[in-house]
Amino acid sequence: MQRPIYLDYNATTPIDPEVVTEMLPYFQTHFGNPSSSYGLGKHNKKAIERARLQVAGLVGALPEEIVFTSCGTESNNLAIRGIAVAYQEKGKHIITSSIEHPSVTEVCRYLASLGWEITYLPVDKYGTVNHEDVKKAIRRDTVLISIMHANNEVGTIQPIAEIGVIAKENNIIFHTDAAQSVGKIETDVTELGVDLLTIAGHKLYAPKGIGALYIRKGVNIENLMFGAGHEMGRRPGTENVPYIVGLGKACELARKNDIIVHERLFQMRQRLFEGLKQKSASSISVNANLENCLHNTLSISFANIEARTLASLIGGQVCISTGSACHSGSVEISQVLKAMKVEHKQAAGTVRISTGKFTTPEEIDRAIRIISAAIQKLITH
Ligand SMILES: Cc1ncc(COP(=O)(O)O)c(C=O)c1O
Repeated sequence: MQRPIYLDYNATTPIDPEVVTEMLPYFQTHFGNPSSSYGLGKHNKKAIERARLQVAGLVGALPEEIVFTSCGTESNNLAIRGIAVAYQEKGKHIITSSIEHPSVTEVCRYLASLGWEITYLPVDKYGTVNHEDVKKAIRRDTVLISIMHANNEVGTIQPIAEIGVIAKENNIIFHTDAAQSVGKIETDVTELGVDLLTIAGHKLYAPKGIGALYIRKGVNIENLMFGAGHEMGRRPGTENVPYIVGLGKACELARKNDIIVHERLFQMRQRLFEGLKQKSASSISVNANLENCLHNTLSISFANIEARTLASLIGGQVCISTGSACHSGSVEISQVLKAMKVEHKQAAGTVRISTGKFTTPEEIDRAIRIISAAIQKLITH
């Protein structure tokens, strides 16, 4: 039996074998507490600081600007809630977009329940925020702009550098959720002009359950948790050394192989797209402008096909995601597709296919055959 073809790298990535190798000694041999003053502890403290350098290197930050967290969700919570609370004397208005991940929107919803005002910017049909809309939304009491770098569902890349200029001109703190972009495209914090940037380990071949937040030097932030002085006093709790080491290694690999990997992601996505266009019996529409989209991501809608039925039909052979879910018997369209005003029927036929650095041309060709055959079956039944 062949293993299913994994084409859902935006959901999570397998851990790179080199990352696993780097992590393994930290489960048994190097088990010391990094705060201990003897050799076992000091060794691990050094390992954490090496990882901090590796993460900082990938995003162009200083090592002391990187805080390790438990995941992308925690990084987003720390960034948004941390800034909101720290700067509440200045104002209680936050600007974000209507296509953010729940780890951003739910924090905003929580803050709104406590009296903060949130502006959710609209997006165009490709899921792009207009930077002019950001400018117009700014008020005297705006303390934070939080706009994701690349969208997890459709892959659209936001004009972060342009928004960064606007934020700077208006002296407003700017956070970007770069969970999907780090390791896939350039994410240099200076070029992007951001003050905070979220990293999620399991999107770039490190394990699930590790993340990081870049916090520009000089930016004040209120902690989420209280305890001892770990992570420069910003995130208490004995450090998850093996996972931190893993994230560091994954960032080092991403930096070393960037051009090769980025090109490969692009080629695999194009091969898939061309193949599906040729072989699929159902017409295809694309839910993004592929010129301004993560190279690995393809959000497409098959006409007259229910994506969930398609995904479950091929689920044992090809792993992909859909743009809808079933709630109480009715098809619920994703917030992102809703914000993009994708018509209900098209949204119900939407799949997200995302390739990764381990995707091979053979896998792509086999996936095209399997998906096309399933579509043929669904159309004729
Ligand atoms: C854009 C985006 N932000 C944040 C997250 C949350 O990351 P984590 O799963 O590490 O909490 C995800 C994960 O799907 C994501 O795609």
